[in-house]
Amino acid sequence: MEVTLLRQSALTADADVLIVLAAEDGAAPPKLGAGGTDALIARLFASGEFTGGAGEHALIHAPAGVASPRLLLVGYGKPAELSADAVRKAAGVAVRQIRSKAVRRAACVVPAPASDAFLAAAVEGAILGDYEPDFLKSVDSSRDKRLDSFSAIAPSNSTGSAEAAVARGVIVAESQNFARDLGNEPANVLNPTELANRARLMANQEGLEIEMVEQDRLVQLGMGSLLGVAKGSAHPPVLVIVRYRPAEEYRAKTSQASHLGLVGKGVTFDSGGISIKPADGMEKMKYDMCGAAAVLGAMRAIARLKPPIPVTALVPAVENMTGAAAQRPGDIVKSLSGKTIEVLNTDAEGRLILNDAITYAQRLGCTHLVDAATLTGAIVVALGHIYTGAFTNDQPMMDRLLASARATGEKMWQMPLDDEYKELLKNAYADLSNIGGRWGGAISAAYFLKEFADPTPWVHLDIAGTAWLDEAKPHLAKGPTGVGVRTFVDLALRWESSRGPA
Ligand code: BES
Ligand code: MN
Ligand code: ZN
Repeated sequence: MEVTLLRQSALTADADVLIVLAAEDGAAPPKLGAGGTDALIARLFASGEFTGGAGEHALIHAPAGVASPRLLLVGYGKPAELSADAVRKAAGVAVRQIRSKAVRRAACVVPAPASDAFLAAAVEGAILGDYEPDFLKSVDSSRDKRLDSFSAIAPSNSTGSAEAAVARGVIVAESQNFARDLGNEPANVLNPTELANRARLMANQEGLEIEMVEQDRLVQLGMGSLLGVAKGSAHPPVLVIVRYRPAEEYRAKTSQASHLGLVGKGVTFDSGGISIKPADGMEKMKYDMCGAAAVLGAMRAIARLKPPIPVTALVPAVENMTGAAAQRPGDIVKSLSGKTIEVLNTDAEGRLILNDAITYAQRLGCTHLVDAATLTGAIVVALGHIYTGAFTNDQPMMDRLLASARATGEKMWQMPLDDEYKELLKNAYADLSNIGGRWGGAISAAYFLKEFADPTPWVHLDIAGTAWLDEAKPHLAKGPTGVGVRTFVDLALRWESSRGPA
C-alpha cells in the first residue's frame, strides 16, 4: 500500500473512495463544502441511521460535488473522544470496510486539531487495518483486496512537519506489521534458529548490529536457566542481540549514560514441557514469542527514526518441549546471575529464559530495561484482553513508559510489586522457586524477574492477554497485534524530553 500526504481539498482528491470521519454529534455533522453531499450527510444523521458512534460506517455513492465516486462515513464517538487513538481505529475500520468492496485507492479527511499526531495515527490505522495474516494461503482471495494507495489529506492547520508525521506513521505501522508477521509464523517454520535468521535479515536491511549468542557460548557464560528450558527441544536455543547506536549527529548531548535495553520473550512454541499443557488451545502457544516480535519490530522502527540514545534488544529464543532430555519438575538450575532456581513447573519457562537475558543486558551496560513477555495466564484473568499488565521496580521509569503507552494508544495498567510478594517464591533447596502458587500468579512471575532486574530501573510488560486477538476487531485482523512496538518506539524517541528527576 502506497501512502501519501495530499495537500489539496477533499473535494478534488482523486480516489475510489473518500473517507470522512464523523463525531457522534447530530448537531454538527461533518461538512465538506459540497452542498448536496453535506445535506445528504445531515440527512443520514437526522434519520438516525448513522449516529457517528465509534465503529459505525455508511457508504454513499456518487456524492455530489465530490471527485471520488464514493464517500465512506466512519464514526469515532463523542466529540470529546477525538484522539489519535480514535482516528487510528476509525481509519482501520474504514480500510477494512473498503477491502470487502474491492476498492483500491482511498483518500481520508483527517480532523484538524492535533494535526501531525492525527495524520500519523490515520496512516497507522490504515496500514494496520489493511493487514491480514494470510501469507501461507496458496489461493488467497483476500490478497487482491489489499488497498493500492491511501492518501491522508492534510488538515487546514497542518504545517511543514506533516510529511514527516506521515512518514513516521508508515514506519511505525509497518514495523508493527513486521512483528505481527513473526507472530503469525507457525512454530514448524519459526523455530529459535529461524527467529534468529529473521532478526538477522531485518538487522542487515536496517543497518543494525546483530550478534548471536549460540549454545556453546551460552554454556560457557553459564546461562543455566535459559539452557534448562531448551533441553527438551530438538532445536538449539540462541540469544539474539540487536544494537542501535545513535550517530554523533543524533546523539543526546545531556544523557550519554542512558542505554535502553529491550528484552523480549522468544518461546517459539510452549508445550509446557514435562508439566505439559492441555491440548485445547495449545496451538496458540506459537504466539509465545510475541514479546520477541515486539522488540524486533521496535528495533526496525528505531533504526529508521533514530532516537538519541543507544537501544539494545535481547531476544532469548527457545522452544519449550518434552524431548527425552527435557528438564523435569524438581530440577535445580543455576542462572547467569549465580542465583539457583528450583523448577517446580516446567511450564513457567518464560521467567527462566528472561532472567538470564536480563542479567546479560546489565552486563552489556543497559541502564534501563523493559521486557515484554506473554508470561502468565493469570494476567489475562486479572485484566482480560484489553490492558497489558505493567510492573516496575522504579516508578519514574514506569511513568515514562505509561506516558508513551498513552500517547500511542496501547492500553497498559500498572500492577503492584510490593516486597510482601517475595515470600511466594521461597524455596528450601534453591534461592528461588520458579512458581509462586495459585494466587497473584502474574505478580509472583513479575517478582521473580525483579529479583534479577534490581537495581536497574526496569518495567515488565505481561502481554499474555494483548499479544493476539482470538477474533478480529472492526479495525484489526485476528491473530498477533504487535502490541508493544508503538510504546517502545515512542519511549526511545522521547527519552530526552520525558526524562524525570535523575
Ligand atoms: N506462555 C504461557 C503463558 C500464557 C498463557 C500466555 C496463556 C498466553 C496465554 C506461560 O509460559 C505459562 O505457561 N505460564 C503458566 C505459569 C504457571 C505454570 C505458574 C501459566 O500462566 O499457567
Ligand atoms: Mn509456559
Ligand atoms: Zn510460555
